[in-house]
Amino acid sequence: MTAGDVRLTIDGREVRVPPGTLIVDAAKRVGVDIPVFCYHPKLEPVGMCRMCLVEIGRPVRDRATGEVQVDDHGTPVLQYGPKLETACTTPVGEGWDVRVSSEKARQGRNEVVEFLLTSHPLDCPICDKGGECPLQNLTLEHGPGKSRFLFDDKIRLDKRVPLGDLIVLDRERCIQCARCVRFQEEIAGDPVLGFFERGRKLEIVTFSDPGFDSYFSGNTTDICPVGALTTADFRFGARPWELNAAASICPHCPVGCNLTLNTRREAVSGGLEVVKRVMPRQNEAVNETWICDKGRFAYHFAASPERLKTPLVRKDGRLVEATWDEALETAAEGMRTAGSRLVGIASGRLSNEDLMALRTAVETVGGRPVLDAPMGGGDFVRRFGLGSQSDLGRLGRGDAVLVIASDLHEEAPIWWLRLRKAAERGAEVIVANARRTRLDEFASHVIRYEYGQAVEALLGIGAAATGETNVRGLVGEAVEAAGKALRSAAELVIFFGAEGLDAKGTAALAQGAAAILARTGHAAKEQSGLVGIWPQANLQGAWDLGWRPTGRGLADVLGEAKAALIAGVDPLGDDPSLGPALGALDFLIVQELFLTETAATADVVLPAQSFIEREGSLTSGEGRVQRYYPAVPAWGEARPDWSISSSLAAGLGAKDLPTSAAAWLERIAEVVPAYHDLSYQALARVEEQWPLVGGDDLYFGGTAYENRQGLGVALASEVERGGSKDVDWPMSPPPQPGPGILAVPVHRLYDRGTTLLPSRVLDPRRVSLYIALNPSDATAIGVGDGEAVSLAWDGQSQTALAVIDPSVPQGAALIPRSAGATLSMPTRVTLLASQPEAAR
Ligand code: SF4
Ligand code: SF4
Ligand code: FES
Repeated sequence: MTAGDVRLTIDGREVRVPPGTLIVDAAKRVGVDIPVFCYHPKLEPVGMCRMCLVEIGRPVRDRATGEVQVDDHGTPVLQYGPKLETACTTPVGEGWDVRVSSEKARQGRNEVVEFLLTSHPLDCPICDKGGECPLQNLTLEHGPGKSRFLFDDKIRLDKRVPLGDLIVLDRERCIQCARCVRFQEEIAGDPVLGFFERGRKLEIVTFSDPGFDSYFSGNTTDICPVGALTTADFRFGARPWELNAAASICPHCPVGCNLTLNTRREAVSGGLEVVKRVMPRQNEAVNETWICDKGRFAYHFAASPERLKTPLVRKDGRLVEATWDEALETAAEGMRTAGSRLVGIASGRLSNEDLMALRTAVETVGGRPVLDAPMGGGDFVRRFGLGSQSDLGRLGRGDAVLVIASDLHEEAPIWWLRLRKAAERGAEVIVANARRTRLDEFASHVIRYEYGQAVEALLGIGAAATGETNVRGLVGEAVEAAGKALRSAAELVIFFGAEGLDAKGTAALAQGAAAILARTGHAAKEQSGLVGIWPQANLQGAWDLGWRPTGRGLADVLGEAKAALIAGVDPLGDDPSLGPALGALDFLIVQELFLTETAATADVVLPAQSFIEREGSLTSGEGRVQRYYPAVPAWGEARPDWSISSSLAAGLGAKDLPTSAAAWLERIAEVVPAYHDLSYQALARVEEQWPLVGGDDLYFGGTAYENRQGLGVALASEVERGGSKDVDWPMSPPPQPGPGILAVPVHRLYDRGTTLLPSRVLDPRRVSLYIALNPSDATAIGVGDGEAVSLAWDGQSQTALAVIDPSVPQGAALIPRSAGATLSMPTRVTLLASQPEAAR
């Protein structure tokens, strides 16, 4: 409550709220639920359904003096309007009295429900929404009990209309609230839905090709107040009351969206408890109440029949099933023999606990941990990362965000969505990239550079922002304007990606960004800092726990080793040229979910549990450590990675090892200063968030789950904890020399990676391998759109169909990552037109 708040009463309860607050929200804050259908606290009000009708009494003012009239007792005289009004479109007024529960208001809502049901099908017994349906619940509470309309007059409409590959519309169930249409326009920034026709014939339609073309489409099924929108994945899959719920964290990108996994034991899955659907769990500082469709639909890998169920040990050249004891002993023996020539290779797919335990196991014999990551710069993020109070949702007018070398919409969709809103609130979003991306849609300044020049572009921006003349970089009008925006920003966030860069180049980019933050006075400010757009969910955690890429290729690392312990990564699948280096090892141990190409060459394969079967914590790109919980029992004999590594370390003689995931986090808290206050209890803390979602009142915020299991802990950066702000400008790495075209792997959301491929529902949206070229480069070699083209480099080659796209810079060829290409880093290549059959 602050001075200037408006005071009113709602159903007799006094409430003070800021001016402009809508009555429906003010009521909610004092525990009065005004029923709504079309209103949603994150969407602009439209007043379409009339469900929120209330009586409003306003103080009567003397026409001459403008003073509020009072009665004989000194009480203000109120005048109630002749008609009911919509609480969702009416902002509060001083001294008003709002009646939600009066007979007149009740009667009004009763008639609205009766009207809405004049043509609603009687699907409740089989409707997916039954049990969590606002219309069903509000009909029971506010409806008339019986209808004056004739059943036979109901309008019949199509009941299965695929709006796209992922969302199905039941036209009869739609109550025309436009929540879905407004979500797509206002929040997702993909206005691909609309109304067609009028009155009772009104239909929701999609305008895009392919239909409902949006990475955020699943959210409309959460906020649709009826069962009109369902996901192709969950439709007729289960009833909500049958489902168990476990809190989780999305494992697919560095945003760290909070999830709830709904599970059920069912005959069709052989009596196993299985995940039936993935729902958003509210965390306003991370994902609010939204998730992207990858997070919602790409969970099937965890229950894939291809999962490893038992340990495997190589005998007579073949991998055969073994007991855990035998496999662990064989693995430990291989590690002991290799000693300091053991290399442990891990990725950001593992949890913090896994990474700490794995590092302990590797170091027990003097081996060396190596992070398999195409990006560097995590140490600068730990020093200059976002502050412990930061929330992208609070950035607005006067603040600035710079995103460099990333296609954020493809790499971290919820960050894209949150920055879009920040731009709408007035924040300046500056985008620097070699090509056009969907960030440009809401950027206030766009800086283009050639692939390989990202650091130079950043140095140019840095020079313009600081006025330092010793810094040399790109110059130009957009660079100057960006520098000015950064310098004058109240808060400044810099996101850096790796598009077109190697680990060294990205590290230089992170260093340059840190230098800008330090020299423009933004280091250690509440909402400012550096964010790495990592290609995996926990790469920042890996950096924080001491894992580092070597800066050299894995072939060199393996070449110096006698044995390797590889966990959560498939180097051979990513780069087939590593075959000889892996084959030359004396001993190879792999901890994995699947028999990957690397695992298939191993001496010992140890089956690991997926994120749905176990607990652990992940550190998001924003530096928030968040906890996930087991949702289903273990798969076969698979064990958590931390447990496997603990057993290996114990077998090698390590003492005092933690014996649970929680204890491993405590160990991390002891040895990693930034994680010093962490415990599973701290990660499980919650507080009330606005808007209120979940609970019994599903009609207000939709079916996103209320967060009762933990908001996580945002780590303080080193500069926030008083660390040095000294950082030099980086040297600009020399551009890749050589003739030909620079082939650049780019990230696409729906790729063909191990954890995505088993989600068949995404098949129609999955990218196939392609090579995108600028029209001039395509013409130069005589290749047309859809024709076969080849890239050749270092004795290797890659053939795919060409996509001719003017937004691809001249001299570059873009190739999607994890889509079957053997090329994983920016590489100079020769471009050749190819025979069509070669592309098959
Ligand atoms: Fe509203 Fe659902 Fe109809 Fe969309 S489909 S207008 S969200 S009832
Ligand atoms: Fe998962 Fe990233 Fe999508 Fe969030 S934005 S749901 S973390 S893939
Ligand atoms: Fe207020 Fe629809 S008119 S909720």
